[in-house]
Amino acid sequence: MIENWIDGKAREAGDGATFETIDPWTQTPHDTVALSSRDDVDAAVGAARRAFDDGPWPKMGFAERGELLHALADLIEASADELAAADSHDMGKPLRAMLGKDVPRAAQNFRFFADHARLAPSELYPSDTGHHAFARYEPAGVAAAIAPWNFPLMLETWKIAPALAWGNTVVLKPAEDTPTSASFLARLATEAGFPDGVLNVVHGFGPDSAGEFLTSSDGIDRLTFTGESTTGRVIAAAGAAKLVPVSLELGGKGANIVFADCDLDEAVSWSNRAIFTNAGQVCLAGSRLFVQSEIYDAFVDRFVASAEALTVGAPSDATTDVGPLASKTHFAKVAGFLTDLPAEANVRCGGVADDGSWVVRPTVITDAPVDARICTDEVFGPVVTIQRFDTEDEAVAAANSTRYGLNAMLFTENVRRAHRVAARLRAGTVWVNCFFVRDLRAPFGGVGWSGVGREGGLYSREFFTEPKAVVMQP
Ligand code: NAI
Ligand code: MG
Repeated sequence: MIENWIDGKAREAGDGATFETIDPWTQTPHDTVALSSRDDVDAAVGAARRAFDDGPWPKMGFAERGELLHALADLIEASADELAAADSHDMGKPLRAMLGKDVPRAAQNFRFFADHARLAPSELYPSDTGHHAFARYEPAGVAAAIAPWNFPLMLETWKIAPALAWGNTVVLKPAEDTPTSASFLARLATEAGFPDGVLNVVHGFGPDSAGEFLTSSDGIDRLTFTGESTTGRVIAAAGAAKLVPVSLELGGKGANIVFADCDLDEAVSWSNRAIFTNAGQVCLAGSRLFVQSEIYDAFVDRFVASAEALTVGAPSDATTDVGPLASKTHFAKVAGFLTDLPAEANVRCGGVADDGSWVVRPTVITDAPVDARICTDEVFGPVVTIQRFDTEDEAVAAANSTRYGLNAMLFTENVRRAHRVAARLRAGTVWVNCFFVRDLRAPFGGVGWSGVGREGGLYSREFFTEPKAVVMQP
């Protein structure tokens, strides 16, 4: 049973309601989960409120809080197998990816923000009229975090760690498909010595369920959300109703531009990772490849070969690169894109596995018209379209022809082109000759339909604190 975690304790829903979490590889329920009512969510917000208003957490120094955050990171590392299994059973991510990337990054999120908060500078405003002015960064209060299912532990900790490091308390609502790691994490926080109520977890669905009960609560001071762009609009409206600042990390349709002057082997290898990592269930996925004409055929041949070389299979198998999609609903959505392809589209490899599993094999599509749904909409699966281009201007225009703007990649060995094109791409992050390389100090967020606001480093401080100007008359 996956319970809520409220005020330092595991708790079933007050009315005993539950739902099931399904393992997408076995296609059977692997646990039951507390289904929170509004009362349960109110209890979690109340606990977070008391821990903030009356508890020691916001008053602790950065060093003391930082020690607890590092202690939690230690416990995450010590519990790597359990945490890896949790997300893997909930959404089918290969264990190898969990152990190699998601779990270490979850620990690193706590370590980074613990140290960053302690070492961050604050501003003094020297005056020639005698006033002394400076900025204080005070914790905002109770932060509500609503998370998606694609990187459960990693994205939840990316929100929780800065919120806690800056002295806030948190109520987390994980995605309904991926509840397990969140409750485990909250238990570890209590074990690490966090005061009761500092980190709370409530389970349930979105509309008319735990998600909406949380966003409509009067007790929250910040709302951070990652998920679908259409949900982002609903969350933004909920924040507006309460005048609560909202941070939104939403969908993407990442452009990946491969110029003829690239290192072809590297471009193929990074482009493969950019779309097939996590079975393409990545907001940052490089799902639209644009390849310059001179190398188009050579690139497509090698890229298709690299896609076919990936190992598809059980998440628990150490050789698996691509597992099942996260749920039956999501599988149906991705499969629907593939049955709805325009006649001109040429499927070079991949497709639905057709063995009853919820697997879509790494799929490469060429010759699809750019206004086809497969080229314009976020598929969120291991499916990439490739288009040919001739000039740099053409590539930039094609890359920017979307309402999304989370990230883009470009491959070139020409440093002047790299700077020029990076500056022209409408995106929150541009990766040159790489993908998914993160510096947690850097701004992270999206343009247009991909989000509102930035998190990371001082951008997280901006969001999770109330900066106060203190002006003193000598
Ligand atoms: P979603 O946006 O519906 O759900 C994300 C989270 O928001 C979940 O915790 C959900 O319970 C909660 N939620 C949903 N509606 C809510 C509401 N009205 N009020 C409060 N909370 C609410 O995403 P979903 O349905 O899980 O995935 C659907 C699509 O979204 C995917 O196919 C993909 O295209 C995109 N997506 C994008 C992600 C990203 O990282 N940018 C992550 C996950 C999904
Ligand atoms: Mg949804």
